[in-house]
Amino acid sequence: MKYHRIKDLLLREHADQMEVTIKGWLKTARHSKELSFLNISDGSCFAGIQVVATPQLANYETEVIKLDTGCAVSVTGTLVDSLGKEQKYEIQASKIEIVGLVTEDYPLQKKRHSYEFLRTIAHLRPRTNTIGAMLRVRSAAAFAIHQFFQSQGFFYLHTPIITASDCEGAGQMFRVTVLDPKNPPCKPDGSVDFSQDFFGRQAFLTVSGQLEAETGALALSNVYTFGPTFRAENSNTPRHVAEFWMIEPEVAFCDLDGDMELAEQFLKSITKYVVEKCSDDIAFFSEFVDKNTAKTIDTILNSSFARITYTEAIDILLKSKKQFEYPVEWGIDLQSEHERYITDQVFQKPVIVTNYPKKIKAFYMYLNDDGNTVRAMDVLVPRVGEVIGGSQREHRYDVLTQRMKELGMSEAAYWWYLDLRKYGSVPHAGFGMGFERFVQFVTGIANIREASLYPRVPGYAEF
Ligand code: 4AD
Ligand code: MG
Repeated sequence: MKYHRIKDLLLREHADQMEVTIKGWLKTARHSKELSFLNISDGSCFAGIQVVATPQLANYETEVIKLDTGCAVSVTGTLVDSLGKEQKYEIQASKIEIVGLVTEDYPLQKKRHSYEFLRTIAHLRPRTNTIGAMLRVRSAAAFAIHQFFQSQGFFYLHTPIITASDCEGAGQMFRVTVLDPKNPPCKPDGSVDFSQDFFGRQAFLTVSGQLEAETGALALSNVYTFGPTFRAENSNTPRHVAEFWMIEPEVAFCDLDGDMELAEQFLKSITKYVVEKCSDDIAFFSEFVDKNTAKTIDTILNSSFARITYTEAIDILLKSKKQFEYPVEWGIDLQSEHERYITDQVFQKPVIVTNYPKKIKAFYMYLNDDGNTVRAMDVLVPRVGEVIGGSQREHRYDVLTQRMKELGMSEAAYWWYLDLRKYGSVPHAGFGMGFERFVQFVTGIANIREASLYPRVPGYAEF
C-alpha cells in the first residue's frame, strides 16, 4: 500500500517522526487564520487521527481552510506525539490533497442525528460512529464464526437460497417467479399454473438452510451454513427483519445435550473474539449506545448458561404475578417480554429453554416420550431474548411421517428429506443463530435496523 491505515499508525509504539500518508474523510474541521485541525477517519478503526495544517501549505488559503465534514483528502506529513490530551499522535501536514469535496447539502453534518433519520440516508450512515463500529463488529464476528467451526472440524456448506421447501412451516416465504403478474398462465380452475414458471413449480427464498444442511451432516458429520435467509413475516419489532443472515451448524451423532453444549461454547467463543478484536468499538457502544453492554457481554463470557425446561419457564412467569401484555399459560409461544423477564430479571444471564410443546415448534423436531413436547432449545440472552433456536432432529422415519400427517404436510414434497431417515439414519441436532440478533446483543444496539447495512423491513426496501 502506498499509504498508511490510521489504525496501524495509532497502534505504533512510538511516533518516530515518521513520514506518513493517510487517505480518508473529514469528521470535523476547525479553522483559524494560523492553524487548522482536521480530524480524519478512514474507517480502519474507531478513532480518527488529528491533522494539523498551517499557512505554510501552498493551498492553505485557497483550499485547506474551506475543507469541511465529509470531504475526502490525502494527507502527507510527519507523525508526532500530540500535545493535546485527546489523542496519542497527530500528523503535521506537509501536503494536503483534496480528493473529493462535499456539496453544501451534505446531510451528515457533525451533530447527533436520530437513528430514524439515519435510516433514510443509509448509504451515508456507515460514516457515523455507531454504524461504522457496527460494520467492523459484523466483520470480526463473521470471521470468528468461521474460525470457531473450522477449528473444530466443521465443513462450510453452501445451501441453496432458492428453494421449494418450507423448513419452518410458518408460511412466511417470499415467492420467486418470472411469471407476468398481470397475465399469469392459469389452470382450468383459475389458479395460477406454476408448472409454467421458471422452475416448473413454485419456488421461494429460503427461510433456513437447515433441511439441506442435514443432508450434508449425514455424510460429512459436522457442517455449518452461514448465509442469507428471508422471512415474509409482517413483524414491525426491534428484533425482526425480512432478510437476515443465519449460521446453522448441523451435527451427526448428537443429541439435545450436545447441541446445547455446542451453542454455549460457540456463543462464548465468538463473543470473546469480537470483544478482543474490536475493543475500541465495544468501548464506544458501552459508553454511548447502551451502558449495560459490557455487563451483558460479561454474563456470556463468565457464567454458565442456565438451563430450564419450557414448563419451568412457564411456572416462573406464572409465579412472577407480573402483568404481561400476552397472558401466560402452558402452550403459548414465549414472547419477547417473557423471554426478557426470564433473562434480565430472573437469571441475569443467558438461559437455554428446552422441551417446548410440539404445537408451537416445527415438524422436524424430535418428539419426547410424553408425546407432547419436542427436544427443542432456544438460547435467550439478556436484552435481546432469543438469539439461537435449535433442536435435536426427528430421525425416526415412522414418528416423522406421523408428525407430518398431523400437520397436513405432503410427504411426496419432502421425499429426499425422508430418505435420510431410511438410509443410515442417525440421531442428529443443530441450531440457527440470527447474525443480526448476535450483533445487537454484543453492541447494545436497540433496534435490529441498526445491525445491518440495509435492513429489509415491511414497507421499505430502499437502497
Ligand atoms: O428459530 P428459527 O426460526 O430456527 C430456524 O430457522 C431453524 N431452522 C434453525 C436450525 O435449527 N437450524 O430461527 C433461528 C434464529 C432465531 O433464533 C433468531 O435469532 C433468528 O434466527 N431470526 C431472526 N432474526 C432476525 N429477523 C427475523 N425475522 C428472524 N427470525 C429468526
Ligand atoms: Mg425460533
